[in-house]
Amino acid sequence: MDLSEISVFCPATIANISCGFDVLGVALDTIGDKMVVRKTKGQGIRITKLEGQDLPMETQLNVAGVAGLALLAKSSYTGGFEIEMFKKIKAGSGIGSSAASSAGAVWAMNELLGRPFTKLQLVTFAMEGERLASGVAHADNVAPALYGGFTLVRSYEPLDIVEVHCPPELYATVIHPQIEVKTSDSRKILKTNITLKDGIKQWGNVGGLIAGLFLEDYPLIGRCLEDHIVEPIRSMLIPGFDRVKSEALKAGALGCGISGSGPSIFAFSKGGVAAGKVALAMKEVYGNIGIDYDVHISKVNVDGVRPLSE
Ligand code: HSE
Repeated sequence: MDLSEISVFCPATIANISCGFDVLGVALDTIGDKMVVRKTKGQGIRITKLEGQDLPMETQLNVAGVAGLALLAKSSYTGGFEIEMFKKIKAGSGIGSSAASSAGAVWAMNELLGRPFTKLQLVTFAMEGERLASGVAHADNVAPALYGGFTLVRSYEPLDIVEVHCPPELYATVIHPQIEVKTSDSRKILKTNITLKDGIKQWGNVGGLIAGLFLEDYPLIGRCLEDHIVEPIRSMLIPGFDRVKSEALKAGALGCGISGSGPSIFAFSKGGVAAGKVALAMKEVYGNIGIDYDVHISKVNVDGVRPLSE
């Protein structure tokens, strides 16, 4: 069938996953945007609708537009695309708002063109959206948004993405205190050098986390959710972070850390009931401090961007 229009679900993602700054990420199931993409005879890309967030609609200033242009530049297609964006993921929330838009746009365009590009190529196009959003073309949100599940960016040059098995009972709880932290700002405050001692701890945890996911060893997964490099610095931008983390762990979370560049905080749990208890504990902290929040409880989304039937 020759499709001319497609509606897609573009998942939220948790990047970094504590120990894997810029290399680890996971896609979520219960939160994401909707996007409608249609072919046009005219060339180029136009954003014709943008609901839910106050973001630029000019193609060159919109992450979906920029990612789409990167795809068009490598395509033999002579027409163009129109994009309608229905944003549920708040910009600056730390759960991959820009990545959802970039990944959704290029995935949908690839479907409409009969899938000329591989997922790895789609990641390279979507990374251009991340470059626009944060100044750096990182792939740790767009890779899980496109592949689904957990992904590891084994290398950036050349780009090498590894899909990582997801244990079936793994749930994420994400709390988003209603403050905005721009990824570009939260990257600027990071140190560019690390000590060997911190490096040893960090790569031990990355290896352990990957092993824990494949072995479905939940306690091992929890032990590896440590970050000795980025979290100590970025957590200063997140009010109540230490308290939320300690209450989440007390409530039974396997581990807890900053989601992407924050301010959202994520925790992993074994099973939905445990994830619900963790959500209550996290909410109580922000309730007591008097900061508004959104909470999401989600299984891992193993499909990534997917078509919506309606
Ligand atoms: N790895 C990125 C960061 C993800 O932490 O800056 C944010 O989009």
